[in-house]
Amino acid sequence: MNQIFVFGSINMDLVFQVPRIPLQGETIQTSRFFMTPGGKGANQAVACAKQGAKTWMIASVGNDPLSKESLENLTSYGVDTTYVSVNQHVNGGVAGILLEDGDNRILVHPGANAFVSSKDAISAIHKLGKPGDVLVAQLEIPIPAIHEAFVEAKKMGMTTILNAAPAKDLPIRMFQEIDLLCVNETEMAFYTQNTDFETSASMLLNKGVGAVLFTKGAEGSQYVDSQQSIEQKAYPVQVVDTTAAGDTYLGAFVSQRILGRSIPDSMNYAACASSLAIQKEGAQISIPSAEQVQQFYNHQKEKL
Ligand code: RIB
Repeated sequence: MNQIFVFGSINMDLVFQVPRIPLQGETIQTSRFFMTPGGKGANQAVACAKQGAKTWMIASVGNDPLSKESLENLTSYGVDTTYVSVNQHVNGGVAGILLEDGDNRILVHPGANAFVSSKDAISAIHKLGKPGDVLVAQLEIPIPAIHEAFVEAKKMGMTTILNAAPAKDLPIRMFQEIDLLCVNETEMAFYTQNTDFETSASMLLNKGVGAVLFTKGAEGSQYVDSQQSIEQKAYPVQVVDTTAAGDTYLGAFVSQRILGRSIPDSMNYAACASSLAIQKEGAQISIPSAEQVQQFYNHQKEKL
C-alpha cells in the first residue's frame, strides 16, 4: 500500500479564547486558556493517520516538555515519528492562537522547526519511499529544504503536495516540482494577486504546478487541473473552532487518494472530515476518525 510522508512543523498550540481582539497597547482578560498539540505538518499527519493511511512524520522538535508531549500525542494517533529529530539547542515550535467566535488569529514561533533540513526528508524517502507514495509539506519549515526534498521525491516517482501556508514567496522554479498545490482564498490571492478562482488556477497551472486544490471555507473546495474543474460544497454545521480545518481537509483528501478513492469522492470525504473538525475545539484533538467521518457521510446521504 502507498504511504504518506509529511515533512513539516510540530507546534504546541497555546489557545486563548478572547471576547474580542485587543487593541494596540491594550490588555484584556481571556475567558479560557488551553494548550493542545498542533502545527500544520503534525495536524496533517494526524489527519492522514486517523483515516488509516500509513503516515511518517519528518520534522524536528526540541528537548523540552512541550515537544515531548507533542511527540507522544503524534504516536498515540498512529503517526510514525522515527524520522522526527530532537534538537538539543532550541525548544520546539509554539503557536499562540486567539480564538474569537470560532475564528482564529495565529502567531507562530518556529523554534526547532526552523532547523529541519532537506537531508532529513531525503534520507527518509531514500530508505522507505517508493513510486506512488506521497510527500506532503507546508511552509512552517524552511522553503529550500522543501524544494530540495520535492526534487528528490519527484525523481523517485513520488507525488508532491504543497499546502502553501502560511503564504510566503516561493522560488519560481519550485512550482514545477509541485504535483498538487493546496491553498485557501487568502493564500491564493497572495500567490496570484488575483481573487478569481478560475483565473488564479490558470495562473498557477501556468507556473508549472500539476493541479490546484482551493479550500474556500463555508464555500467548499475546488480542484482544478489541465483537464477538469471539480467543485465540492461544504456541509453547513455549527462552527466552534476553525483551527486545523484546512489541515484536516488536506490530510483526509490525501489519505483517500492513496486508499484508491476518486478525486470527487476524496473531496467529499474531506469536506465531511473538516465539517466535523470545526465542531470541536483544538487542532489534532478535533480531527475525526475514519468511523466518525463515515457516519457523518452516511447521515448526510440519508438527508438527501
Ligand atoms: O493550521 C493550524 C495550525 O497552524 C495550528 O495548529 C498552529 O500550530 C499553526 O501552525
